[in-house]
Amino acid sequence: MDQETYLKQTAETRPERLRWWQEARFGMFIHWGLYAQLGRHEWVMNRERIPVEAYEKLADTWHPKARPAREWATLAKQAGMKYMVMTTKHHEGFCLWNTQQTDYNAVQRGPGRDLVQEFVEACREFDLKIGFYYSLMDWHHPDGARCAKDADARRRFLDFTQGCVRELMSNYGKIDILWYDVSWPLTDAEAWESVKMSAMARELQPHLLINNRAKLPEDFGTPEEHVTAEAAGRAWEACMTFNGSWGYMPISPDWRSAREVLMMLRTAAAGQGNLLLNIGPAPDGSVPLEAVDRLTAVGAWIDQNGEALYGQVDRADRERMDWMPTGAWTIRGNNAYYWCHRWPGRELVIGGLRAGVKHASFLKDGTPIAFEQTEQRLVLKNLPHFDPDPIAGVTVIKLVCDAPPEQRLGAGCVLLD
Ligand code: GLC
Repeated sequence: MDQETYLKQTAETRPERLRWWQEARFGMFIHWGLYAQLGRHEWVMNRERIPVEAYEKLADTWHPKARPAREWATLAKQAGMKYMVMTTKHHEGFCLWNTQQTDYNAVQRGPGRDLVQEFVEACREFDLKIGFYYSLMDWHHPDGARCAKDADARRRFLDFTQGCVRELMSNYGKIDILWYDVSWPLTDAEAWESVKMSAMARELQPHLLINNRAKLPEDFGTPEEHVTAEAAGRAWEACMTFNGSWGYMPISPDWRSAREVLMMLRTAAAGQGNLLLNIGPAPDGSVPLEAVDRLTAVGAWIDQNGEALYGQVDRADRERMDWMPTGAWTIRGNNAYYWCHRWPGRELVIGGLRAGVKHASFLKDGTPIAFEQTEQRLVLKNLPHFDPDPIAGVTVIKLVCDAPPEQRLGAGCVLLD
């Protein structure tokens, strides 16, 4: 199939395929591999220039405990996540599934079992959609680098890559997401045979969503380590580390707080995007306590405030709603949700709202809020002195309006148009 036909065909089925994903909002990324044993980032092999023969030994010393994927799934569910994406093979080249393409895999080496199978079973048990991350770049395969310069090596490496993708898409039942990563050292879709590879994946998994990292735009964009909306009409998912490393890195002190995670989720929802938040399990598969703590808090908060987050939302940031010093918005239909993260005390004033407010309340328990609205100012009154959200210091106020809300403040105190 030529590229143009492929892109056209996938565009036709995209809205339908994307539907569940765009309502899901929040997913768990899992980076797990041999590197977890070293605990110094998943790029450790490359950054410390560990020779392949030395690194390979990690394949025999890796002995994860029984079924850690069930722990991840339990936590994901509790945190309000709707899907999980796991590394089936990271840049190090070690395959976590029962592959025929190489013996450098979890069944034939240390773990002695199919870790992808366990992951898939856990997702199904906990009703989470299933995503496979697959690194195109491979530091272990003998042709992984020389494929850039040598035609025979490239053929062998593409056969290996396509063989891996075929197995992953054939042997584990319904898979929802194929998440490619780093396309070094080949430089374009043609060199990677991306159309052939992904058309094959789609034939095996007609509902599949594919990301944009095999040199084709595909179904969604993948901003990394920043939550930035792509252009309206383009689906996107921000992937974020929890502590600056994707792989297990216990020495990192840089854990994001539950509050930061909620702010990222708000930004994602306001731009009609998703957040894929990473955990890097320890070698035995357990989740670092810092992540468990924060995700548990996030889940408790979402239990009370999920309405402001999930499902089809409208674009808020920069398009319909303005910035505010005390909070930020998500919107849907005639409802506006104000995520107040700097609590002002007894009164909260919102300027420039261009819709009549019919009702105001605390989202978490429905308690009504008294208000007065004039042309330019909405004054919410008799509020508590201190932020009423004990979980993360983010209180959502729901405004039911008489029309789809918009907010216009401009830079001066008089609007120029
Ligand atoms: C980067 C890193 C990789 C990580 C990925 C996640 O591409 O190279 O280690 O898996 O980001 O998005």
